[in-house]
Amino acid sequence: MSLHFLVVYVKSLITENIFSLRILSMFAAPWIIILLSTTCYSLDNGLAKTPPMGWLSWERFRCNTDCVNDPDNCISEKLFQTMTDLIVADGYATAGYEYINIDDCWLEKHRGHDGKLLADHQRFPNGIKALSDYIHSRGLKFGIYEDYGNFTCAGYPGIIGYEQEDAFQFAEWNVDYVKLDGCYSLPHEMDLGYSKFGKLLNSTGKAMVYSCSWPVYQIYAGIQPNFSAVKTYCNLWRNYDDIQDSWTSVENIIDYYGNNQDLIAPNAGPGHWNDPDMLIIGNFGLSYEQAKTQFAIWSILAAPLLMSVDLRTIRPQFKRILQNRKIIAVDQDPLGIQGRRIYKHKGIEIWSKPIGPLFNNFYSYAIAFINRRSDGTPSDISVTLKELGLIHFYGYRVEVNNIGQLYSNSFLFLCKKMSLTVNTKEERKEKNVKILFRPSEIGLADRTSMRMWTMAFYTLILKSK
Ligand code: GLA
Repeated sequence: MSLHFLVVYVKSLITENIFSLRILSMFAAPWIIILLSTTCYSLDNGLAKTPPMGWLSWERFRCNTDCVNDPDNCISEKLFQTMTDLIVADGYATAGYEYINIDDCWLEKHRGHDGKLLADHQRFPNGIKALSDYIHSRGLKFGIYEDYGNFTCAGYPGIIGYEQEDAFQFAEWNVDYVKLDGCYSLPHEMDLGYSKFGKLLNSTGKAMVYSCSWPVYQIYAGIQPNFSAVKTYCNLWRNYDDIQDSWTSVENIIDYYGNNQDLIAPNAGPGHWNDPDMLIIGNFGLSYEQAKTQFAIWSILAAPLLMSVDLRTIRPQFKRILQNRKIIAVDQDPLGIQGRRIYKHKGIEIWSKPIGPLFNNFYSYAIAFINRRSDGTPSDISVTLKELGLIHFYGYRVEVNNIGQLYSNSFLFLCKKMSLTVNTKEERKEKNVKILFRPSEIGLADRTSMRMWTMAFYTLILKSK
């Protein structure tokens, strides 16, 4: 498996398989639409102009409420305070991660007599406002989880019947980000329910990023989501399954986003993002190469970068991936254009995302090459830049960003053709890991050559002269 990220200028839209790439190896209901079209509302909270970055408890810490036997890993104020401290102390905050988000299982099983939400008094003895203050005092932002339904997915009280009270409670707690899940609710009621709660959040006067699970529940119920409504009301939203700690799960998400990109990708933009779910980098399920691939593809997708990992024990190489500034910059590119899979054949994929800077109205691009083959023999790939959509006659500046690998500087080329050798043998330590990526030719008249290694990121920027 391997991946490259290229930034280049292309005027025309690139669509899947429009170019030939040689692999040289051998192997909604109408009433809803009417309702929404008569509404003047638009999400104007001014937030999430680039995809949100932060830390979220769910994938790594789940619904561990056993603070008696597992005090260091249970969902508790201590866990969130610890992660807050590490986000700051270990450089994540400087790299752009800012939200510390609670997921499910923070509540008592029942509301208070006054109907208010209550945090579990044993695990959050100082209450949510104190945790929020703690996080803010460290210069970070605070996110919380609830559910548009009778219960959260883990069975704690949902917001139905208490929407207004809960929205104002979140504002009172100085919440900066609300993830609203969709268990124990009716998907056909979500168009109304999610939009209503979004308006209530706005009406509090406290700007809160609004993360919706609205589309995914509708898709699984066989309802085609009204994405123009979703992106009007939500800053981000889930489309697909929960991520699990495995490469299979990451691959399924990558495939879903590639296979459905015509429907999904155009909905993304500053202030409104598709959310392919958390980063599982640094946990138990991904190899180093697979972790780099998740980070690269998430950044091509302009995905929210929400780490769900134990920052106390993360190994340094995974931390370096999560703090790779070049790749973060691709994700956070201000244009906010979600990238696409532009090629997929026999285990080789190419993904491309338009980014800045523009030159003569031509975009730069980040391009990722992935080899998902497992046959163990090299795959040679030859592709021209034109086939990648890199058609500006001035050529491109190539910026190579490959952590700990061969090149780390910028190169100037007039690129006409690039050949890649995806070598699954050299450097290979285990199946599907450490594959050599070796573009042997890049540059003027196909003669300039260079070598790139597995998972390298290429930033190709249009030359200005
Ligand atoms: C759902 C969501 C997850 C997580 C859990 C919590 O499955 O999709 O992201 O929030 O609920 O119970």
